[in-house]
Amino acid sequence: MKSVYFFCASMVFLIACGGNKQESSELSLARENIDFAEKQLEILIANVGDTTYNPRTIEGSGMLHLIPSKDWTSGFYPGALWYMYEFTQDSTWMEEAIKYTFNVEQEQYNNKTHDMGFKINCSFGNGYRLTGNDEFREVLIQSAKVLSTRFNETVGCIRSWDHHQHLWQYPVIIDNMMNLELLFLATQFTGDSSFYNIAVSHADTTMKNHFRPDYGTYHVLDYDTITGEVLSKVTHQGYAAESTWSRGQAWALYGYTMCYRETGKERYLDLAVKIADFILNHKNMPADYVPYWDFDAPQIPDEPRDVSAAAIMSSAFFDLSKLVHKADFEIPKDSLSAEYKTVAETILTNLSHNYRNKVGEHAGFLLDHSVGSKPHASEVDVPIIYADYYFLEANKKYMESNP
Ligand code: GLY
Repeated sequence: MKSVYFFCASMVFLIACGGNKQESSELSLARENIDFAEKQLEILIANVGDTTYNPRTIEGSGMLHLIPSKDWTSGFYPGALWYMYEFTQDSTWMEEAIKYTFNVEQEQYNNKTHDMGFKINCSFGNGYRLTGNDEFREVLIQSAKVLSTRFNETVGCIRSWDHHQHLWQYPVIIDNMMNLELLFLATQFTGDSSFYNIAVSHADTTMKNHFRPDYGTYHVLDYDTITGEVLSKVTHQGYAAESTWSRGQAWALYGYTMCYRETGKERYLDLAVKIADFILNHKNMPADYVPYWDFDAPQIPDEPRDVSAAAIMSSAFFDLSKLVHKADFEIPKDSLSAEYKTVAETILTNLSHNYRNKVGEHAGFLLDHSVGSKPHASEVDVPIIYADYYFLEANKKYMESNP
């Protein structure tokens, strides 16, 4: 594919018109990441080929692991291709993005899981944002309708999983915060506030029950559907019930930052700042801000890092930096905003320099060293597509925040 650096060209122009050395290094990091992503994703596309399956990770043997649309990660690959189209304005990327976006189309009717936001918003949502295509918008609305059927008024939350029914009556996981963006979008599209109200109820109930006094998050809460009471607070992918699983903490940071952006409700910004405090001040957070897979993993520092958590955090910190700055209530805005931007950029820089694959490596994935589920010995220290998606998203926000 030809390299047309649409964003970068604009930045070159700005620098030529009086930029400084710092802007040059920002330009070069962003340009280099896009250049690298173009080469790697061309390889990934060639490896994926003409199929109705999308890529998730590589297996121990080095083989590409392709997944059907019902897998929770199926939207990230088309989403990454949409970001490439946004970076380059090259229609070839759009054609690829559309092709693999339609691989997940049937998920709009899948009522068996809460992962609708991941699957549909990352694929069709980005597609709609960049093209305004009405067909994409209809898919987003239909998906939000189906997701809403998983909401229980008594509990006040959307049910996450249907599996493990012998263990949990009504499991809600912190990851579920990421699906709320789709509901906010559906209210904007339709004017029907019921989507918005479900999202706010879910965010409020999760805020009340899912956090410890130090603002570390539990992974899984089980609710009683008759009384709405919490039955248990446990983990599935973390080290222990009382430990803080790093990707869960990243979902929480991203989720509440997004909820503040969509609602303007101060309580969500307040919580996002407290979640950020936990992340930034934790004794086990490494200096490069790429967390171990669990903040309380027992063998730290001899534990795998989770690059996916870092990429999600980088993207979220870019947003939080902007939102804190604009907040119209009492908060030390300037210092917090600058701190969050520095952290977001530090993570992005460290991922770019120390965790990126080399061109041609690992079937075309961008980043190495993510952890899917350590307790299940599944996808430990491997490339994973959602790390790549949030890495590209953070790169986009990096460029936007340094115009
Ligand atoms: N359920 C999404 C994740 O593993 O983070």
